[in-house]
Amino acid sequence: MPEGVRDTDTITEKAYAKLNISLDVLSKRPDGYHDMRMVMQSVSLCDDVTVTLRNGGGIELSTNLNFLPIDDRNIAVKAAKAFFAKLGKTDAGADISIFKRIPVGAGMGGGSSDGAAVLRALNTFTGKPFSRTELEIMGAALGSDIPFCVAGGTSLAEGKGEVLSVLPSFPDCRFVIVKPRFSVSTPELFAKLDLVSVKYHPDTQGIVSSIKAADLKGICRRMYNVFEDVLPPKSEISKIKSALLDSGALGSMMTGTGSAVFGLFDDPDKAKRAQSQLSQRYREVFLAEPQAVLEI
Ligand code: C5P
Repeated sequence: MPEGVRDTDTITEKAYAKLNISLDVLSKRPDGYHDMRMVMQSVSLCDDVTVTLRNGGGIELSTNLNFLPIDDRNIAVKAAKAFFAKLGKTDAGADISIFKRIPVGAGMGGGSSDGAAVLRALNTFTGKPFSRTELEIMGAALGSDIPFCVAGGTSLAEGKGEVLSVLPSFPDCRFVIVKPRFSVSTPELFAKLDLVSVKYHPDTQGIVSSIKAADLKGICRRMYNVFEDVLPPKSEISKIKSALLDSGALGSMMTGTGSAVFGLFDDPDKAKRAQSQLSQRYREVFLAEPQAVLEI
């Protein structure tokens, strides 16, 4: 079913993955979180989130991945409950079915995007009582990446990730994304980061200017993730980055707190060849393109 389409009492929303084009951690905050500066991009790889309103109360979740929690620990359930609470309808209920394609524990915002898709679907069902900004504020209470995932597109994200400045659309390109077998714990990686000894910070302003100038090479020259600083030099992540660059990527970096790594290509055929080469070594290799911002 096409994106956001309503079949009487069912809506299927595409929940797009996000990639970090840059990730900088500025300082530790008194609340234990960190102030960030990141360029975020949503990409065509997506989960399908189908929401059906039910007469009785309660949120029922099912997914195609049997290891995912389907109770209150799942961000999609939390999002539905938060939405109904904000609406003052705590007795309302919904069935949510998620078909996952975005790898889990990858730094690609899969869970956050599913939560944001639930907010969009319920907002549509109830006659759009909330603006995009209100949905982003609702999402921020559930997870730092959810505000960006509400509308996606291309944004500079600051604060915990919830202070968003919309940027022009990303230049046409292809992303080849490799998810290694292992996943990374986000809180553990934050804990490992010693801000005093971080050797290099990305030139975020330079990336923003390059996006505004549609200068793909300028973006690729500058893209960087400070979390790569805490990786051992011969890590699997560095090996994947080298493999992507060897197969013609203009730039490559880890997204979020990992473990997925992507390469950025200006030539679709080169990207396809890189995907098929890397698929011989890695089980999860995806080809994607930039996704435009959604109308809310
Ligand atoms: O907000 P979210 O639940 O996605 O964050 C997961 C963890 O990542 C937090 O518990 C925190 O350890 C870390 N985090 C952080 N600063 C941020 C975002 C996340 O320290 N801005």
